[in-house]
Amino acid sequence: MDDQHGILMDTMNELRLAAVRGLGREQVSEIMDRLIEFTRMHFWSEEQLMEQYGFSGLAEHRAEHQRILALTLQSAHRVQHGEKMQMRPLLCFLRELYSEHIEGMDREYGPWMNAQGAD
Ligand SMILES: [Fe+2]
Ligand SMILES: [Fe+2]
Repeated sequence: MDDQHGILMDTMNELRLAAVRGLGREQVSEIMDRLIEFTRMHFWSEEQLMEQYGFSGLAEHRAEHQRILALTLQSAHRVQHGEKMQMRPLLCFLRELYSEHIEGMDREYGPWMNAQGAD
């Protein structure tokens, strides 16, 4: 999962660079599409793992994943249709959203699983 988190944060950096360089809507949208696809896959893998180990916080975690995905989809829509001015704060917002989740909630299930005897 740490590798997947690395890829997510790399994609965030790519988005930040794209904003700094003032890349166009189309190029940013392309990165956003990749982010969405990877996020879906990652959330699914995490939820499978939590289900496998009967993690008690699964429902709450899944709800948070759904919230993040919905916000990501909404952001992708804004990139495609919104004003160019919105791009940078939007990307900052996404970056915060993902890092808070990875450094917060995602730190909870690992130790719990280890305690259940996972390796
Ligand atoms: Fe995660
Ligand atoms: Fe998560």
